[in-house]
Amino acid sequence: MVDYEVTVSTGNLLGARTFNSVFIKLVGENGESERTCLMDHNLSFGGGAVCSTVSCPVSIGKLVLIELDKQPLPLFPEDVWFPAKVEVKSPEGDTYNFPIYHWISDSKVHRFREGTALTVFEDNHHLGRYSRQQELKQREQDYRWDVYVEGIPHCIKAENPLSLPCEVRFSFTKTTEFRYTAFTSLTELQLKGLANCKKNWTNIQDISQVFCYKRTDISDYVKEHWKEDDFFGYQYLNGVNPMLIRRCTSLPDHFPVTDGMVFPSGQCSLKDEMKKGNIFLSDYKRLDGLTANTINGKKQYLMAPLVLFHKTPDDKLMPIAIQLKQTPAVDNPIFFPTDSEYDWLMAKIFVRSADFSEHQLNVHLLCTHLLAEVFAVSLLRNVPMVHPLYKLLIPHTRYTLQINNLARLLLISKTGVFTQFAASGGEGMMTILKRSLSSVTYSSLCIPDDIAERGLEAVPNFYYRDDGLKLWDIIHRFVEGVLSFYYKNDAEVQQDSELQKWILDIFKYGFLSQACTGIPQKFTSVAELVKFVTMVIFTGSAQHSAVNSGQYDYGGWMPNTPISLQLPPPTTKGTTSEATMLQTFPDINTTVQGMATLWLLSKDSSDFVPLGHYPEDHFSEKIPCQLIMDFQEELEVLSVAIKVRNQSLDVPYTYLDPMELENSVAI
Ligand code: FE2
Repeated sequence: MVDYEVTVSTGNLLGARTFNSVFIKLVGENGESERTCLMDHNLSFGGGAVCSTVSCPVSIGKLVLIELDKQPLPLFPEDVWFPAKVEVKSPEGDTYNFPIYHWISDSKVHRFREGTALTVFEDNHHLGRYSRQQELKQREQDYRWDVYVEGIPHCIKAENPLSLPCEVRFSFTKTTEFRYTAFTSLTELQLKGLANCKKNWTNIQDISQVFCYKRTDISDYVKEHWKEDDFFGYQYLNGVNPMLIRRCTSLPDHFPVTDGMVFPSGQCSLKDEMKKGNIFLSDYKRLDGLTANTINGKKQYLMAPLVLFHKTPDDKLMPIAIQLKQTPAVDNPIFFPTDSEYDWLMAKIFVRSADFSEHQLNVHLLCTHLLAEVFAVSLLRNVPMVHPLYKLLIPHTRYTLQINNLARLLLISKTGVFTQFAASGGEGMMTILKRSLSSVTYSSLCIPDDIAERGLEAVPNFYYRDDGLKLWDIIHRFVEGVLSFYYKNDAEVQQDSELQKWILDIFKYGFLSQACTGIPQKFTSVAELVKFVTMVIFTGSAQHSAVNSGQYDYGGWMPNTPISLQLPPPTTKGTTSEATMLQTFPDINTTVQGMATLWLLSKDSSDFVPLGHYPEDHFSEKIPCQLIMDFQEELEVLSVAIKVRNQSLDVPYTYLDPMELENSVAI
């Protein structure tokens, strides 16, 4: 007889242990063991690592997979078990690791492959190939595509979070904290009588009483500086939406700004400044012609502004002209900083409110949440656990399916907060999402290409770009290291049918087969694959953090980011006052619902996993494990550099500090 030493580790999660009996069978290239009961000395199985011996008459050769099952004891009901991993020491002295990280709730046999990553063309053992096919067959049933609304990326089919497979649901900790934050914020507002108050604000100071304890250093700063032009410009680079501004080399015909309007003393000309790369434009054309929401029975207003900026010799980005609607007209004046205080401020407020819709729907929801979901669903349906791509990407999909399911239920559904309280809620919302998807390109998702295309390489004090490009490089080096370890040449990429199915489904279900997006439909080289996977990890981690984490910082003081506005903008100059501004701001209930939501969506949970940290050991081989450590080291060095840089800034830019950003879209 020969003995195999088996160590089973159960996950460190609430409810992970089982009171059922656990059985294992080892399957090797030359035979298999008997199905053997694993004994724990405790009452339940899994209170730590459980060691057992599985004996076989002769060696069964190199291990290919294990089969696990559990059976309820008499008088004990069937329960759930979350094995994390199994380690087997063979009589030959080899150690085999089996990553599992899977909830087992039934008494069926479940197969798990040995941890050495294998692409489909390297998987030569018939049992390995069979279990690979079976696994994907099951996954195709568990993770089905669904159409929420035609014209936007497809999503996971699930009525509510409880109908999602257990592996992709929030942990108990995450669920509890999420509910607690949502519940306490709304209760506070209800106690203060604000949640249902459909009145206007009558005093700007009252707004700061909404959440007197829910403040951040930046939300306090915003409250002090929101009216200032240089801070208005700053937010286009380092606020929550650094994605719209671009260098302007010629003015659009429908934005007829002249030198005399913006440089009244003739100090410079637009043409010269454009040549020098000092003129920038933000164009909210995607919001043009939309029907704005009706809130509290009142019609709301959503503009589609054009904003022109000038980079001054002291490196400030100053707004110099704002046109609130796309078509020039007598009743659509172009506003300038030289206008009356409230004319200019109102123009900026309408821009900031338009930015709320553009940012939340296009930049945040579509370009991070919905795309990350597509990458994840395609991975789960097409790529088995033993595949190197699964091992690399699965940590970057954590909680994404559930947070998106919740967003569909609680934010953008018929009764959702966004639908009820945002100017673009309802019909306009879906139009913006559809228009946004048709303007997404592959290069807009890859920060080096995006910065170049927008002509922003030389803009000073642009920390989103500076930190983002460094992060992209670090992620790219890591991904390149891992994938080129598994794919030795381009032909191997081309012949990997699972990999090719992954990208094809992303193209079909995520980008609705629109070739003009530039999204690849297949991978022909290792370099192409590395770039795409870098983009997937960057989007779910860094990009999401850049556009998510500052939501309360910049939106917690409502006048800086009004969720809706309820008077039309001035059509002639010289008619506005503080009273006009207060009447234009959203009603009290609309304001506070928006603020409470931004607070909830800016909060990390305590089981947050920072970028590059992998609590689950999916990789077994030395090289990828070493590459993970190198990746973490590089991220730590960048984090220190960002912290040092931030010490000298009035407003620290922390959203791309690797220690502050999560591996996946989780909130
Ligand atoms: Fe988010």
